Amino acid sequence: MTSKTLPALVAAAAAALIATGATAQSAKLKVGLMLPYTGTFAALGVAIENGFRLYVAEQGGKLAGRELEFVKVDDESDPSKATDNINKLIKRDNVDLVVGTVHSGVALAMAKAAKDSGTMLIVPNAGADAVTGAMCAPHIFRSSFSNWQPAYAMGEVASKRGARKAVTITWAYAAGNESVKGFREGFEKGGGQIVKELNLPFPGVEFQALLTEIASIKPDAVYTFFAGGAAVKFVKDYAAAGLKKSIPLYGPGFITDGTLEAQGADADGLLTTLHYGDSLNTPRDNAFRLAYAKAYKLQPDVYAVQGYDAAQMLAIGLKATNGDIGKKAEFAAALEKARIDSPRGPFVLGKSHNPVQDIYLRQVVGKENKVIGVASKALADPGRGCNM
Ligand code: BEZ
Repeated sequence: MTSKTLPALVAAAAAALIATGATAQSAKLKVGLMLPYTGTFAALGVAIENGFRLYVAEQGGKLAGRELEFVKVDDESDPSKATDNINKLIKRDNVDLVVGTVHSGVALAMAKAAKDSGTMLIVPNAGADAVTGAMCAPHIFRSSFSNWQPAYAMGEVASKRGARKAVTITWAYAAGNESVKGFREGFEKGGGQIVKELNLPFPGVEFQALLTEIASIKPDAVYTFFAGGAAVKFVKDYAAAGLKKSIPLYGPGFITDGTLEAQGADADGLLTTLHYGDSLNTPRDNAFRLAYAKAYKLQPDVYAVQGYDAAQMLAIGLKATNGDIGKKAEFAAALEKARIDSPRGPFVLGKSHNPVQDIYLRQVVGKENKVIGVASKALADPGRGCNM
């Protein structure tokens, strides 16, 4: 039996409660990193994590006074494992938020789980239009792009450059399909026509028969979406098939980002559209590139930038809530009015939480995706189906 009086007990309990609250805010923030670390997108996952960690390190290892603890899952870019993988992070590991992923099909499953459980989600690559469209939610954010954005911009570029008949070639999954759809919208608006859509299952790289078909169709242009290891092989196969010298190859910049060392001369001259490039030469980007190169002995690419900005976005939300990620409305309000100081150039989030950003026109010169213009200024995703 305690010797304390009732008021003393109440005071002690209150003090304990306050202490618990304080501890919750000073305890480590558990970040679930769900990214591909194996397969064709492995390098993309690593670059995203590198970028994320670089920003945190630049803040002295803490965001809004909270240290971060990472729980990592290799999602293998496999949509069939995605629901189980994210639910392990949410239900077993009790993460405070999830950052992921690269593959659109996996991201769609993640967005559903995040919505169902109310877990904060920051998507640092996957462009699945629905993530900031029909599936949008106050606690879901994207630091990258929608599949529509660079594709639509390239449709406009290709038609302005005089192409009238195009063939498209990609993987048959959400990102490939949506990329072609976005290209079609921009291309047809300018008077172009897609005469054939070619595709193969993800993550296939057996391009030969499809390249033979392109050669027989002889279109004015080819539009393609591939990324990672497959992008390297596609660009090399396109050149080896003799197509590079006769039919311009266009695509969103994933076809040449983070891949130029391996593609060598076969990528030279290719025109792509993307929200980042290697020669922006701004003080912000130069500082980022130097810090990244020092930390990882590697040049950064678009994926590294998106990871870095995912961490910046988390920092903005946490700062506004004093480190309490449970305050979702305040977290969202801070991001909705933020101007994010990205290496790509500053951007804001649109109503559906997707970046409103410049889409650059880039050309491969040696080992660089050189920015040669702005294909589309402050391009906002239409956020189709988002009711928020
Ligand atoms: C996607 O699946 O959304 C994706 C994958 C790699 C690069 C860009 C987009």
